[in-house]
Amino acid sequence: MGKEKNAWMGMQKKRWALMVLALFSLSTVMVFFMRTAFDSCSASTSTGFGGGKVREPEIHSDDRLRSVAPNPLQFMKSKLVLLVSHELSLSGGPLLLMELAFLLRGVGAEVVWITNQKPAEPDEVVYSLEHKMLDRGVQVFNARGQKAIDTALKADLIVLNTAVAGKWLDAVLKENVAQVLPKVLWWIHEMRGHYFKVEYVKHLPFVAGAMIDSHTTAEYWKNRTRERLRIEMSKTYVVHLGNSKELMEVAEDSVSRRVLREHVRESLGVRSDDLLFAIINSVSRGKGQDLFLRAFHESLQLIQDKKLQVPTMHALVVGSDMNAQTKFETELRNFVLEKKIKDRVHFVNKTLTVAPYLAAIDVLVQNSQARGECFGRITIEAMAFQLPVLGTAAGGTMEIVVNGTTGFLHPVSKEGITPLANNIVNMATHVERRLRMGKKGYELVKERFLEQHMAQRIALVLKDVLQNAKSRADS
Ligand SMILES: *[C@@H]1O[C@H](CO)[C@@H](O)[C@H](O)[C@H]1NC(C)=O
Ligand SMILES: *[C@@H]1O[C@H](CO)[C@@H](O)[C@H](O)[C@H]1NC(C)=O
Ligand SMILES: *[C@@H]1O[C@H](CO)[C@@H](O)[C@H](O)[C@H]1NC(C)=O
Repeated sequence: MGKEKNAWMGMQKKRWALMVLALFSLSTVMVFFMRTAFDSCSASTSTGFGGGKVREPEIHSDDRLRSVAPNPLQFMKSKLVLLVSHELSLSGGPLLLMELAFLLRGVGAEVVWITNQKPAEPDEVVYSLEHKMLDRGVQVFNARGQKAIDTALKADLIVLNTAVAGKWLDAVLKENVAQVLPKVLWWIHEMRGHYFKVEYVKHLPFVAGAMIDSHTTAEYWKNRTRERLRIEMSKTYVVHLGNSKELMEVAEDSVSRRVLREHVRESLGVRSDDLLFAIINSVSRGKGQDLFLRAFHESLQLIQDKKLQVPTMHALVVGSDMNAQTKFETELRNFVLEKKIKDRVHFVNKTLTVAPYLAAIDVLVQNSQARGECFGRITIEAMAFQLPVLGTAAGGTMEIVVNGTTGFLHPVSKEGITPLANNIVNMATHVERRLRMGKKGYELVKERFLEQHMAQRIALVLKDVLQNAKSRADS
């Protein structure tokens, strides 16, 4: 009996995987890679750099407008841009820089990519990402070669990605550093203490500008560099991120959404009218999966105590990595066993492909602790799927979620458990409110958090930096 069930589940899983693969290979290039942790920032995107399209996307009225509207980055045509990545991996930082590379290629800029830290052994991920870039006309140079130095000297603009990338300046450019700094834009996506080291950021006061993903993170950087390192940052720009076109395509295609929803639910054993609350982040204490499960358990008790009539509720944790976080993962599993909620809580391994899960769930929980997310791209990705967000009142989440309109905010730490439990109950008992909040979130994404909006915001910064570089070169 048990064996039969396993075989059946296995078959279902396979069918589901095939289905997802089939769906995605039509609309975007599938990247079945891991969605890795990237510091406090979940900048990574599931489908951020899809390749050639086969299927015609649904035509929306603003697509037609967009095709005639001038591209905000058009002035970058023929400019030489050097992108310096601290590493090449599937974490948020490098993927975001790669998106910028493709935006710049899209307007005919000459783009050169270098990776400061590469694994000594040949690496499949590095290989496939480099080829993806080469296919789209991005040149890939050795970080330490003469070509990299020559490009840096010749470039109109250099983008250093993450604080750690600062190490490349002295190590490679040596006596040329000062000459290059006026055209450096430093893109920072992290908020953790150990990045505030002189060896990484000593040149920060002298670059053309720093571009940071949220106001909270920018304030934090200004304070920390001033107080800890006694340096003043150069001009700082806050640039909120946007959803990739590929993600929006899936989110706005009701057929894909429905099919993905059915198949993911089937694979998890969640019925179509059950309520599914999910947290989608690399599992680690900082992302607050433990506190989410406590809140979920508390919400189940509240519902039982008050005899509320609600659908069966489930919690989904996407982002497990038993090998990397064995102790914490074990703690989560033990909690689930101890509270006897094993049939209500589901764990899914880390994946870059979050769209199927966003299609399958009803509410996203963003439970990042301490200073919160630097931006939290999964938040705007969920909103694209018309999901309300229950998020911690910290970091970038507060700049995205409108409390009471597109979701609810709760405090970080243990203090947040009961408020989150109440918000979970609230979402379960107020169907109309839940759906309305999801719609409002989607409207907000269409207004502010699309790739085109991000491109507009970046364009303003690049213009400023180019001008600054020019006037400093002239004087
Ligand atoms: C930065 O410092 C100011 C004054 O010292 C303080 O009011 C503010 O809350 C600090 N901001 C952050 C993000 O730490
Ligand atoms: C999830 O990852 C673990 C190792 O971390 C592995 O043993 C397990 O097979 C994976 N599960 C699936 C469904 O891929
Ligand atoms: C969010 O709104 C609720 C009421 O809608 C309020 O109780 C709560 O304090 C608010 N939280 C924040 C962080 O503003």
